[in-house]
Formats: sequence, structure tokens, C-alpha cells
Amino acid sequence: MTDYAFVLGKNWLLSLAELVVYIRDRGLAEGVKDYSRTSAVVEIEEKLDDEQLVEIQSALGGCFKVGRVVSAYDRSLVEDAFPARGRVDKQARKVFQEAPWTNRIWSKMRGGKVKFGVSTYPMVGKQTTIDLRRFTLGLDEWTKKRLLERGARKAVYYIYEGPDKRDARRPNVALWPQSIGRHGLLSPPNAELLALLMENTLFIAKTIAVYDSTLQRYRDETRPFMSAEISTSPKICRTLLTLSGARPGDTVLDPFCGTGTLLMEAAMLGMKCVGIDIEQSMVQGAGQNLKWLGSGLGEWIDFKLIKGDARNTAKLIEGQVDAVAFEPHLGPIYSERPSLEDATASVDELTLLYRDVLESLESCLRPGGRIAMTLPVVNTTETQVSVDLASMMKGTGFMVFKLLPSAAFVESTPKHHQLQVVPERSTLPERKRGQIVERNVVMLGKT
Ligand SMILES: C[S@@+](CC[C@H](N)C(=O)[O-])C[C@H]1O[C@@H](n2cnc3c(N)ncnc32)[C@H](O)[C@@H]1O
Repeated sequence: MTDYAFVLGKNWLLSLAELVVYIRDRGLAEGVKDYSRTSAVVEIEEKLDDEQLVEIQSALGGCFKVGRVVSAYDRSLVEDAFPARGRVDKQARKVFQEAPWTNRIWSKMRGGKVKFGVSTYPMVGKQTTIDLRRFTLGLDEWTKKRLLERGARKAVYYIYEGPDKRDARRPNVALWPQSIGRHGLLSPPNAELLALLMENTLFIAKTIAVYDSTLQRYRDETRPFMSAEISTSPKICRTLLTLSGARPGDTVLDPFCGTGTLLMEAAMLGMKCVGIDIEQSMVQGAGQNLKWLGSGLGEWIDFKLIKGDARNTAKLIEGQVDAVAFEPHLGPIYSERPSLEDATASVDELTLLYRDVLESLESCLRPGGRIAMTLPVVNTTETQVSVDLASMMKGTGFMVFKLLPSAAFVESTPKHHQLQVVPERSTLPERKRGQIVERNVVMLGKT
């Protein structure tokens, strides 16, 4: 049994659910051993090699880093050694000063130069009981000392660079994937260490793969056809693909393909693409994007795009697809919060659209295939309005598959007091602060 570490995306519950679906679909997991708002540790029976870990990282939309766990400590030891307030316990600090993880990460030391960095991921965004900066720098300093003692000619560490870009009030004690790439920290003997703080445990892991933001941004910003207003984020597209169960070689359908972001991500993962959109301009634009991607990759992409109404999918496509993943039409693009009445009218109409589309998809999806889609959640001047799942599913031949099943957590997963995960969820949020139309994600399968 080996423990693997995953740094989760901002919508951590959805990222955790995606990770669970991925490993359960492949029969890999014993289960989630521990989790925080920023990371998860998963127990896996089979030993995964570096190549498999790189593949997992690149498939998951909600995963920034993947690593192998090398050590675990009681969190109380960290609190005693690096208290945010009060006295330092010197005995507790000594445990970290010895930096025993160094031997496991660098089993052989050949006297060369070693570059490394420590990235700390706290339990929740704001951390109160541990001095995170001192903790991270302590790990950096003592790892460096041990490396020199063990024969490294030179040891250099890199530290976090500037405040958290998303929230300047949050202590940023982690290296960005770009910095890891720039400094070559994933090429041995260099390394990045992950320090994952959970409610009761500190896990130390060695990073094996990180999210390649440069490539994804290049795809997102340089493609010939885009629309800031409608394009879905590539990361959520990957999450939808994972939830839909799509694998390399499978045929994936996006019945609301728009600019083709999801299909591009599917093609990157070696899937065949079928897209439908009611607008000719979108069909044409998505086609340009897929051709552009294919010529950039130097590969032929197997895709088919059809102009038509998603409610007629059964008449528009031939045969069956393996998976369906999409962000549907989400209603009007609001410049300010709508009234409760307007939002309710729009969401009711959309619910009927989605129901008709699902009905049409029933004959198009292979037995055992799944659908993953987003649903709008509209912030009105009064309250939130979301799609009523029961009305949407009625008579469609599909059912809602629960996300984060209890069985996905190993029995010893600690009961978190600060961060309860309510398992068996019908929907999970995919949200950005300040959005008028937020999204929920659902995973569906045949009844
Ligand atoms: C939210 S956008 C999809 C965005 C897409 N994932 C992307 O990244 O560009 C929804 C798309 O659905 C299309 N659409 C709206 N109603 C439709 C229908 N009944 N059938 C098919 N496409 C429809 C719109 O033209 C729009 O391109």
C-alpha cells in the first residue's frame, strides 16, 4: 500500500470528487485517507510509477500537483514546534531539525548540486495555530543542512514568490507550478517537497508531476476562435471529462460545444470528439480550433461537428458515444443580478431544455456510459435560483450518481471537525467569487 498526495484545485470538494471518480473508475483505490481544503492523501494498493502519476495529474482538472508520501507526523508536533503564538517546544522542533525525510527523497547522494523547494498546503485558507512561514523556512533550512551533511556539494532552495495571487491576505507558502518548471525542480536530483497539513496529520511528499499552466494557457489564449463570454474553463472541462468516465480512445459528445474548449481538452487526452451547436458560427469556430490544435500537436484529431439543436441529438449523430460531457446553454448573460422572478422564469425554461436534451441522449450513450454537465445557479437580488433536479430528470432514463460516496473514504479517515465532507452529494459547486451565474456539477448514468 502506498500513499499518494494530491494538491487540489480551488473548488476543493469538486476536485476531491473528481479524484475519487478517477481512481475508482480504474479500480485503483483503497480510498481517501485524509483531506484538507487544499489537498488529499489517497491510499492505493498498486504501486504507481512516475509515468502513471503524470498521466493522472494531466487528466484531472482539479489537481495541481501529485506526489508520493514519504513521511507522516502528528499535527500536534508541528503546532508545538511552530506555534502561531506562544512558546516553541524545542523537543518538537528537533524532530524537524533532523529532517529524516531527506534520506527517503534522496536515497543516494553523489556530491553534486541539489535544488529544491518546500511547498506547504494548510488545512484551510487561513491558518491560525501554526506559523506557516517559519515552518516552511524551517523545513527548507534543515533539509539543506542534511543534504550538505550527506555529501551534496551545494544545496539551494527556492521559496514562495510573493503573495497569493487570488487572495493577498492568504499566506502563500507554496511554489507555483511555473516556478517549479523554471528552476527544474522535478529533474533529479532536484526535488519539490509537499508539506500537507491535515486536521491531525502532517504528510510530507515528493512531487512527481505538476499542472502545466503554460501549455493550457497557450491553448486557451492563442486558439483562433474564442469567446470570453461563453467559453468554459479548460480545467472544468477536464473535470467534466473525468466525471463522464471518458478514457483515451473513447468517443466523447459535447451537445453544446460552443467554441470547442471541452472537445480540445478531450482531443489532448486522446479521445475522439463529436460536437453539436445550434449556431453555425460556433460549429465553424470549434472546427477551426480543433484543426489548429491538431496541426500544433502534429496529430490528426478525430472530430465531427454538427450544426443542430441538442434536443435532436438522437437524429443528428450516428451510433452511440462512450461519454457525454458539457456545459449547456446557461441562460442570459446578466450584467447585474436579475430579479428572483426573472431568474426563476429563465431557470424553469432551461430545466425543460435540459430534460429534452437528456431524453434525446438516452439512445446515443452506450450502456454503462455516463454524462457529466454543469447547471446554472443564478444569484438574484434576493436569493439563489438553481435547477430542480427531480424535474430535470423526470422521464429521461437517467439518474443522478452520487458524488463523494462514503465508500470512497478508508475507514481510518479521521472525522474532521473543522472541515466536514458531507458524502453522497447530488451536485457539487464550481464557483468563482463574484459570478452572477455560478455552476453546479452533476454526474448522470442510465437507470
Ligand atoms: C455555455 S456555451 C458552451 C461553451 C463551450 N463549452 C465553450 O467552451 O465554448 C453554450 C453553447 O450552447 C449553444 N446552444 C444554445 N442552445 C442550444 C441548443 N438548443 N442546442 C445546441 N446548442 C445550443 C450556444 O450557441 C453556445 O455555444
